[in-house]
Amino acid sequence: MTTRNHCLERDAQDPLASLRDQFDLPAGIIYLDGNSLGARPKSALTRAQQVIAQEWGKDLIRSWNAAGWFELPKRLGKLLAPLIGAADGEVVVTDTTSVNLFKALAAALDMQAADAGRRVIVTERSNFPTDIYMAQGLTTWLDRGYTLRLIDSPEELPAAIGADTAVVMLTHVNYRTGYQYDMQAASALAHEHGALILWDLAHSAGAVPVDLHAGGADLAVGCTYKYLNGGPGAPAFIWVPKKHQPHFHQPLSGWWGHAAPFAMAPDFQPAEGIARALCGTQPIVSLALVECGLDVHHQTSMAAIRAKSLALTDLFIELVEARCAAHPLGLVTPRAHANRGSHVSFTHPHGYAVMAALIARGVIGDYREPAIMRFGFTPLYTSYADVWDAVEILRDILDRKDYNIDAKRDAVT
Ligand SMILES: Cc1ncc(COP(=O)(O)O)c(C=O)c1O
Repeated sequence: MTTRNHCLERDAQDPLASLRDQFDLPAGIIYLDGNSLGARPKSALTRAQQVIAQEWGKDLIRSWNAAGWFELPKRLGKLLAPLIGAADGEVVVTDTTSVNLFKALAAALDMQAADAGRRVIVTERSNFPTDIYMAQGLTTWLDRGYTLRLIDSPEELPAAIGADTAVVMLTHVNYRTGYQYDMQAASALAHEHGALILWDLAHSAGAVPVDLHAGGADLAVGCTYKYLNGGPGAPAFIWVPKKHQPHFHQPLSGWWGHAAPFAMAPDFQPAEGIARALCGTQPIVSLALVECGLDVHHQTSMAAIRAKSLALTDLFIELVEARCAAHPLGLVTPRAHANRGSHVSFTHPHGYAVMAALIARGVIGDYREPAIMRFGFTPLYTSYADVWDAVEILRDILDRKDYNIDAKRDAVT
């Protein structure tokens, strides 16, 4: 049976342990919510001060050129590319995941539009709601007979894709269950039937190794405020591989996606390359901070992050099942490593109340309907001893029924 001392020994041998020092984590907190909002890299404060005090305050508008503000979406895309198996010139950090999804889905439908028989978008009912909502909004607005086919489990995917399918739109790691798709297999399935595949990497980028090229992806979007530690509401990313760039036409054709933005021409001409995925002026203060999280990632490798993520999630599952066995907890996350992301979800009939009690005791995870407690493990700053201590606090709360089932719900759970 694993003990706390075993956990401390593993921390002492952990090759990533020193990276925790690059994050400003408050004392007395065990932070298991990096799958929702990553912790703050210490360097983000210095960078924010530099952007606000010097670049904005002193250099003013000159910073668009002198501080490289205008090129920032592309420069950050270049830093992000190796983490997701993208090539240089294929990623920009910009806008939100929802907005990028709209652009990518619209462009994918446009690439398939010549085939009037392809009017179906296949996705999952359990996909993150914004993905479904954006697809609903786009198809309703297009009014060209597109429909959404919602599958209820990954096993239904093969039967759901056919000659009528324009686009398969999947989230690589499910936000609720932590289920991870086999990207290569799902992409191959889509291509067998002539469909394109669009991946949402919100819970994958920086959390699990991703190789978009080897995985056969056509388009991808993702988020930087979770495992990439970019900051609350930090701009997201969009990936368009070189082979699709010439045919990538997205409807949010703002001036930053123009071939010559400062020519101020009255007609839209898309830029060559990935810049055509841009729309308009970016929130530079927020965008600039994304670099701080990426810098930490560049000090290690996705292979090392994945090895520790699996060790942490295995440990958490083992300890919860052993030490909280008397309680009605149900593991939702796959046990198979190949199908697991970097968070673990357990159901409990009073999941919201138990999570509220955990947070009150300094163990920060979150809650998702129905009855799911999510615990995120960020190998850059989560230790094995954190896992032990979090499970002990959970056990204590459950043993003593120290939670309030009438607790008022916050707007954000
Ligand atoms: C899979 C997925 N897509 C999208 C989002 C959020 O998109 P946005 O940043 O546009 O709110 C999330 C947020 O958790 C998510 O899990």
